[in-house]
Amino acid sequence: MSLLFKGRTAIVTGAGGGLGREYAIELAKRGANVLVNDFGGNLDGSRSENSSPAGQVVKHIIEGGGRAVENNMSVLQGDEIVKHAVNEFGSVDIVINNAGILRDKSFMKMTKDDWMSVIEVHLQGSFSMCHHAWPLMVQQNYGRIVNVGSGAGLYGNFGQANYSSAKMGIWGLANTLSIEGQKYNIFSNCVVPIAVSRMTEGLLPKDIHKVLDPRHVTPLVSYLCHESSSENGFCYEVGGGWYSKVRIQRSHGVKLGDLDHFASVEEIANSIQNISDFSKSTNPINPADALKYIIGSKRSTK
Ligand code: NAI
Repeated sequence: MSLLFKGRTAIVTGAGGGLGREYAIELAKRGANVLVNDFGGNLDGSRSENSSPAGQVVKHIIEGGGRAVENNMSVLQGDEIVKHAVNEFGSVDIVINNAGILRDKSFMKMTKDDWMSVIEVHLQGSFSMCHHAWPLMVQQNYGRIVNVGSGAGLYGNFGQANYSSAKMGIWGLANTLSIEGQKYNIFSNCVVPIAVSRMTEGLLPKDIHKVLDPRHVTPLVSYLCHESSSENGFCYEVGGGWYSKVRIQRSHGVKLGDLDHFASVEEIANSIQNISDFSKSTNPINPADALKYIIGSKRSTK
């Protein structure tokens, strides 16, 4: 069975190159109307001469018989971008929050501007896009959102305090939207890709460039955008033809305090190995589930 997107409209942000370009081309190939957004500019977010990479992607899609329109605004203008898609195609069914920049510096050297510009494009931009597409999706009782996270967010990475903070925020946004959107058939997930692009070509060893073709990420992202997918509230790590899911794992935990007793610092010190013991770990899936263990467990008085 072919998974088609006929009649669906997708916005792909930062789709002038790298991963976003591949998402836009694949969705268009499968029948979606695609608004190809890209602000252009340099990797650090500054403007450059070549400011219209989205136009080349649109040209490619149209030459292949697809439907696409170019948008060169910043993702911070979510209202205008959504309006543009609605004016062209009538609605918005899919949003892929893919646009991104880097301002890598060790934390000691990171300026407020380095921090803010990265938080703005990634986190504020994802908010702005979702915020303006959301009422349309609620009204039509349908939506698919893919937010793009990063391994730097999941695991941390030297020189990327700004980027990793933004990327974890983006995962958090997808988590909460998945809960609020469920009853409206709006499903939100987070994808953590690894692929060669202008963002990563200098960071990844040359000998694995071929393995990490961005087109390996496209099928999963496209599937999450399809109406047949019921995946909602998940995070995936994907690259080089490998696909996986990431979830929260919590150690079994130790109950040291209760109504009659507050644990002392010494009790924490004595129990730190038990607190950190993952042999009987759990995987809470929502705050209620997480609270169940906290409230339900009994203090050991041994
Ligand atoms: P890329 O640099 O090729 O693509 C990012 C695109 O976003 C660029 O075309 C850029 O012009 C556009 N952009 C930047 N600021 C914008 C703004 N304000 N408004 C609209 N567009 C804007 O990089 P790549 O690798 O394709 O990255 C895509 C996404 O995947 C990013 O969010 C990145 O953080 C994420 N990612 C990529 C990884 C990789 O291995 N390539 C690893 C983890 C995450």
